[in-house]
Amino acid sequence: MNTLTITRPDDWHLHLRDGEQLHAVLPHTAKQFARAIVMPNLKPPVVTVDMALAYRNRILAALPVDCKTSFEPLMTLYLTDNTSPAEIERARESGVIQGIKLYPAGATTNSDAGVTDLSKCHATLEAMQKLDLPLLVHGEVTDPDIDVFDREKVFIDRILAPLAYRFPALRIVFEHITTRDAVQFIDQSSQQIAATITAHHLLLNRNAILQGGIQPHHYCMPVLKREIHRQALLKAATSGNPKFFLGTDSAPHARSAKENACGCAGVFTAHAAIELYASAFEQVNALENLEAFASFHGADFYRLPRNQNSITLKKENWLVPMFYEFAGENLVPLSAGTIIPWRIA
Ligand code: NCD
Ligand code: ZN
Repeated sequence: MNTLTITRPDDWHLHLRDGEQLHAVLPHTAKQFARAIVMPNLKPPVVTVDMALAYRNRILAALPVDCKTSFEPLMTLYLTDNTSPAEIERARESGVIQGIKLYPAGATTNSDAGVTDLSKCHATLEAMQKLDLPLLVHGEVTDPDIDVFDREKVFIDRILAPLAYRFPALRIVFEHITTRDAVQFIDQSSQQIAATITAHHLLLNRNAILQGGIQPHHYCMPVLKREIHRQALLKAATSGNPKFFLGTDSAPHARSAKENACGCAGVFTAHAAIELYASAFEQVNALENLEAFASFHGADFYRLPRNQNSITLKKENWLVPMFYEFAGENLVPLSAGTIIPWRIA
């Protein structure tokens, strides 16, 4: 296969940041994807509909001229202990908010305002279930006694399974899954529950963080896992099962914040997102299933129309730059300085 034409894909989990950083990273996504679910973990977080509408306007204003009509940001609200059912109603009525994001407090970058105890959110979750507004979940416990590599599995047992049982009609996206346990949970759960998978978790296992010295640009949350987990993710993503779909979790941080004694979590993949997924699918001879994963399953789950136009990928080696410009700083992309074998035509 030397070219691959697929329906234009969507990114169902993306960090766009704000201000100059937003201007720097948005063009990378807008040139590939028709839509993206935009994460609300700004500082301060996007907790109200008004804040989400204002953020949406800043994103639209930052779009390059040639993408003004071809890219649509899909907005989310950041769930806190204090998010009210009335705010959920306003979110539903707005027509531009597609999900409510649960960050367990302290789980990841800018999650200090996250939920401390899900029982505080029950009335709000009831409202989401009733109004059919999906819950997007960062699925890791924050208990410091739990091994970092086990935090997703423990989250399933302690939080996610009971949540799904209590709110059986609530649509839930288990974001950026990283383990075989998560794949099994999704396989066994109802049609209301789906998962996104990143390109970096399909391409790398945890050796990539530590081999040849500490590799800060491979550090993200949830952290990369063992090879058996990567294999399970690859199998799920390429299986054709509509419960798995593309979400890059592209999460840019300045080089100085990554190459730091206390480096930030997040891998930037927007520069080559669909090409990186194509490389992963090609590893297991499953390129024919890329379109459904990248362009159909997410739209179907979110009950949005599938995109009408297409993109073409060519089998062509290209060298990923060592860094991109990022608001006066450098941004080191995944696979910096190496060859990627697919390129958007
Ligand atoms: C994300 C970020 O930087 O905003 N980081 C990451 O490692 N994925 C936050 C997140 O999605 O957990
Ligand atoms: Zn994320």
